[in-house]
Amino acid sequence: MAGQIPQRFIDDLLARVDVVEVVGERVKLKKAGRNYSGLCPFHQEKTPSFTVSADKQFYHCFGCGAHGNALRFLMEYDKLRFPEAVEQLAGRLGLEVPREGADDPRAQARERKRKEGVNLLELSASFFRERLKMPEGQGAREYLERRGLSPEVQQTFGVGYAPDGWEALKRHLSERGVAEAVQVEYGLLVHREESGRTYDRFRDRVMFPIRDIKGRTIGFGGRVLGDAKPKYLNSPETPVFHKGRELYGLYEARQADHRLERVVIVEGYMDVVALAQFGIRNAVATLGTSTSEEHLTRLFRMVSEVVFCFDGDRAGRQAAARALETVLPLMIDGRQARFLFLPEGEDPDTLVRREGAEAFQDRITCASPLSEFLFDQAAAGRDLARIEDRERYASQVLAALARLPEGVLKSLMLSELSRRTGVEASSFATLLARSRQAAPEPAAGPGESAPMGEAAGEMPEAPPLGERAPPARRSGSLSLAARALQLLVHEPELVAQLPEADDWCPEEDPDGRLCREVIRLLRAGRYRSAQVLLAHFHGTPEGERLAALARRELLIPRPARGAELEGLVSHFLRHRERRSPQEEIDTLLAREKAGERLSREEKQRLMVLLTELHR
Ligand code: GTP
Ligand code: MN
Repeated sequence: MAGQIPQRFIDDLLARVDVVEVVGERVKLKKAGRNYSGLCPFHQEKTPSFTVSADKQFYHCFGCGAHGNALRFLMEYDKLRFPEAVEQLAGRLGLEVPREGADDPRAQARERKRKEGVNLLELSASFFRERLKMPEGQGAREYLERRGLSPEVQQTFGVGYAPDGWEALKRHLSERGVAEAVQVEYGLLVHREESGRTYDRFRDRVMFPIRDIKGRTIGFGGRVLGDAKPKYLNSPETPVFHKGRELYGLYEARQADHRLERVVIVEGYMDVVALAQFGIRNAVATLGTSTSEEHLTRLFRMVSEVVFCFDGDRAGRQAAARALETVLPLMIDGRQARFLFLPEGEDPDTLVRREGAEAFQDRITCASPLSEFLFDQAAAGRDLARIEDRERYASQVLAALARLPEGVLKSLMLSELSRRTGVEASSFATLLARSRQAAPEPAAGPGESAPMGEAAGEMPEAPPLGERAPPARRSGSLSLAARALQLLVHEPELVAQLPEADDWCPEEDPDGRLCREVIRLLRAGRYRSAQVLLAHFHGTPEGERLAALARRELLIPRPARGAELEGLVSHFLRHRERRSPQEEIDTLLAREKAGERLSREEKQRLMVLLTELHR
């Protein structure tokens, strides 16, 4: 580790930078008296409650309470750690950050090494980019065109070409005074022990530079232009490149959106680049390894939601099970994980090209929350009407819950498990405590391995299952309309954030129709709690449906519920736009005929549609 940054330097730095300038580069500010004000970047708001004081050199939000100096702002906004924020501020002023104990020769040597490596890799990256433009890069250019990569996206990701031949890069670097040993150390040259010869590692490949979070090239992935093997070649482990840690595309995703809240983890380089080209700029890929705890820890420092994307085949399911195991211990409240399965035979690259960005975005919106996935996975292949199967089911879920940090999510899932199995939640608590002592090993994956519960123990007394009748409903996932309805039943106040017109609710889904009715009732202002709502529908099939949804535990943490509903609504709205005008007209007319009063927006929409149709 580099030494401590002297406090004197930090004080000095803060005295020399202007917080108004730092904030102003990222947030639109207006002068308001002695201060500046703008929309707070740390919470959603429509009227500005965020102020920056030039005199006091700090910012403060009267809405959410965020406040601090320029360093704090950079840490929060750019999601930097303290030393990184200091580096960044110092960089603005052209200052080197001093480190205590930096005269320690070992630390100095390490630092020199790091810089040397980064320069060398940067030099190589621009070499590859240059070569792509030259005549020898023609084959690679054609390949990229065939794969449909636009020049813009190639530029964003710094795609290049490593020429054929054994010594192109070696010569280039050596001419610039880089020792061969260093080129070998950073993985650019391969050293043959027997002959003592060295040659370029990457030959005749399309090159993807892998960048760290600050945008510095730390390694490469190279793809063959045809079907030769190996298809991809990555840099080996080097002083700056650690495969199990780095995520391809993370830097580019952050460049596209500094306020990144969600990332999608896909499998391949091409997937990241293709999605970006289609405007889905928050995808990252591991470098041919499965997602590690370190990957996720680093991601969750930056974003609150991670969506895992898998192939729909058996291998994909297994990878998903591994990802679930890895992510469980990290799921403190406020974080979200989702699981997205693609149709068999597709990857994000092929799918987004076939269906378009909106459809792919819809898939992301509809990805199963961790809780759903966990329950579904445990239920797979089991007949929950059978006591033995329910025992296995409960054991598997419990083993997973034992790995979940204490918090709201865990207690919600426990009560949901209790509801689904008919076993008192309190008996689970005891079992949980025991299985924690037994320190369960992560299961290898579903299918082959025994149910996690069995692996975890020796559960001494089987839980008293089967004393009550099994819940008489399917354990499967809810439809999207049902998810919206469920949110409203649990949180009726959310109705306030819905768009005025309720035509986003799908007509064709009974839950969608019920949802509209619920919204109307809530809007009328008389029904503010689920109880009243249930009473209103009491004795009808709708009442039963609502009661079922109310009983079903809502597994989304409270602060995230508004955003969840918003996501669903915009999903439906996008779909509605894709409905044909005739269909939309028919729906609106049918409603009017049925004696319903259309809202002003709906009437206008109908007019527009009719005029367009008759033109
Ligand atoms: P395209 O065929 O170019 O579309 O690549 P892909 O990303 O669809 O490939 P695939 O799904 O086969 O592989 C996903 C990821 O696994 C790649 O992006 C690589 O990181 C890694 N990978 C695939 N093949 C190899 C290989 O032969 N060697 C190594 N080291 N990694 C590979
Ligand atoms: Mn592919």
